[in-house]
Formats: sequence, C-alpha cells, structure tokens
Amino acid sequence: MRTTTGWRADGPAQKLHRTSLQRRELRADDLAVRVDHCGVCHTDLHSINAADGPVVPGHEFTGTVTDIGRDVTGFAVGDPVAVGNIVDSCGECAMCLAGQENFCHEFPTLTYGGTDRHDATPTLGAYSREYVVRESFAYALPRGWEAAAVAPLMCAGITVWEPLRALGIGSGSRVAVAGLGGLGHLAVKFAVALGAETTVISRSPGKLDDARRLGAQDLLVSGDDAQMARSRDRFDVIIDTISAVHDPGPYLRLAAVDGTLVQVGHLGSVSLNAMDLLIGRKKFTSAGSGGRPATREMLDFCAEHDITADVEVLPSSQVNEALERLGRNDVRYRFVLDMSDLD
Ligand SMILES: NC(=O)c1ccc[n+]([C@@H]2O[C@H](COP(=O)([O-])OP(=O)(O)OC[C@H]3O[C@@H](n4cnc5c(N)ncnc54)[C@H](OP(=O)(O)O)[C@@H]3O)[C@@H](O)[C@H]2O)c1
Ligand SMILES: [Zn+2]
Ligand SMILES: [Zn+2]
Repeated sequence: MRTTTGWRADGPAQKLHRTSLQRRELRADDLAVRVDHCGVCHTDLHSINAADGPVVPGHEFTGTVTDIGRDVTGFAVGDPVAVGNIVDSCGECAMCLAGQENFCHEFPTLTYGGTDRHDATPTLGAYSREYVVRESFAYALPRGWEAAAVAPLMCAGITVWEPLRALGIGSGSRVAVAGLGGLGHLAVKFAVALGAETTVISRSPGKLDDARRLGAQDLLVSGDDAQMARSRDRFDVIIDTISAVHDPGPYLRLAAVDGTLVQVGHLGSVSLNAMDLLIGRKKFTSAGSGGRPATREMLDFCAEHDITADVEVLPSSQVNEALERLGRNDVRYRFVLDMSDLD
C-alpha cells in the first residue's frame, strides 16, 4: 500500500482531522495523482452529517500525475489532470457502452463512499494529498489552466452540464436556475454561454449583482409571492440546485407548457402534486454526474469559453471552517482546498 495524508471525519457531524491514509499500489491501468486542489461540494457536507463510519470526502479535484501503471498510454508523469465524482464502472453494460458511465447498471464507483470493483475496499476521497485512479476516469487538462477554479467543474459543473445539453439548451431557450451556490453559479455560466436567456431564482436578494455579473438577466426572489406569480409559465427549463428538501410546486408553476423542472440538488424522496404537472403538461426529472464523453465535452466547452468556477481557495487545514461556512450559505461560490499544506 501507498501512504498519504488527508482529512477524515470519524462519525456523523464530526469535525475532520488530519490523518494518514492508505492508497492501493498502482494497477496496470492506474495513475497516481498528487491532489493539488479539491472543491468542497455540498454533498461532502451531507455525507459527513450522515456518516455511519469514517469518511474522507472530496470528489472534484485537479492535480498532477506522479506515477503511471505499466499499461497506461494516455498520460505521463507531470501531466495536469482532473477527476470527478465517479472513478470506475463496469465498462460492459448498455449504459457504459453508450458513454453514460454515470448510469452503469452495476452502479459507478463513487470517488469516496464507494467500493472498489477489484479489491472491495471502501473508496476514500480527495481531501487528501494523493489519489489513485483508473486512467479512463482521469481527464487531461490544458497546461496553464487555473487548476483551483477548474476543480469544481468535475462535480458541480458536469452535474448541471449534462441536463442542459440533454434538454437541448441553446439560443432562444429560457432557463432558470434555482439556488445560486456551487452548482447554481456554474449552471448560470453554462446556460448563458449556450445562448439561453437565463434567470436566477434565489432566497437571497443580495445575490442580484452576482447573478447579473454571471450573465443572468434577472433574479427572482423565491420568497416574494408576487414576483413568483408574475413569472408563471416563463421558463423552458428550470435547474433546481437547492440543497434542502422543498416543495417543487412553486418551481413547476414557473415552467412553461411542456417545460421541465430538473431537480439535481435534493436527491431524496420528493412529494409533488400531479396537478402541478397536469396544468401545462410539465415534466419533473433529475440528473447527476456525467458520462465520460459529456465530461470531456464540458471541459472542452469551458476551455473554449474561458469558464471556470468562482472560487475561494483555502489551505486544506481550514477544511472545517469551509464546511461550516458552506452550511450557512457563506460562500461565493465554491470553496477549494489547496492540498499543498499536507506535505
Ligand atoms: N445530482 C448530483 O449528482 C449532485 C452533484 C453535486 C451536488 N448535488 C447536490 O446539490 C445540492 C447543491 O450543492 P452545492 O454544492 O451547489 O451547494 P451550495 O453551494 O450550498 O448551494 C446550494 C444553494 O441552494 C440554496 N439553498 C440552500 N438551502 C436552501 C433552503 N433551505 N431553501 C431554499 N434554498 C436553499 C442557496 O441558494 P440561494 O441563496 O440562492 O437561495 C444555496 O446557495 C446539494 O444538495 C448537493 O448534495 C447533487
Ligand atoms: Zn459533488
Ligand atoms: Zn456499466
């Protein structure tokens, strides 16, 4: 085994503490990656709060290849790479063959909190100085791209990119993004760059200037009933990134006839009134992570359009502060941990 250092919580809602961690020795198709930057996703916070054992979070990171397995052909030592929230899949089912590894019939291996397909060990995330990953789930980055701000594309970004693309968003589309956080601010950037007329729906009127700076035309305050009523039937697609349980009804009423509400934020069970779908023939759907082709497409699009996340970079020793601030909505718009203090 290889020994590295990282941040682990040992039980529900526990603070993370610095500890040594074991990684597998490289298999023939593995890369060892020095993790330079890892984004702090709200899912990390949910996972820590619900932990039924030790958890090392972190599933959107960028870093540098430090070692390669004997069959690796696509990467060399020194290459900049990015890794997201899935690190393996069966490679043989209809979904994998269609390039939708995120829907693998055997369930994709999650970057943390999953189980390795070969040795059955639990996966440990990238709040850590080193990660070992199959080369097919690592993505080459252009040299010189700002690595800290690229990391959040790998979970927050791809999670909103796939539904925007699958729903054909482009010039003339009317898109709303509910919840302006890590996922939400990237959804706004993507929708705007795809040519859509884009609106933010937020609890926080103070985010109006940010919404405009990100390219949105407008910010609807979700708590303002009159404003919400005036926007009835207004949007073709609403990407709902809200991290807490909530009633989808008020958001469905903002979707146009045949419009779609995509709930990517809260992933538990949902209570919805069929009447909110019936009136206007509306659709309710979800999405998560992305297949390898869509992930490469997103990275190429971001490089071409100069899109990265708006980040606040903190030394990894401030991980508990980052999580605490994320929990009270005090982030504009993604914390990224700089792992160099783990050396
Ligand atoms: N589908 C997937 O595969 C996937 C991938 C990544 C993350 N997620 C999930 O997506 C959610 C968002 O993640 P994130 O990292 O973007 O979180 P985040 O940065 O905390 O953003 C969430 C936003 O939701 C809004 N919000 C939070 N609590 C709310 C409440 N009680 N009522 C109404 N609005 C509320 C806030 O926006 P305003 O201040 O603008 O209202 C907040 O900025 C999390 O639940 C996360 O687990 C899912
Ligand atoms: Zn995530
Ligand atoms: Zn599969």
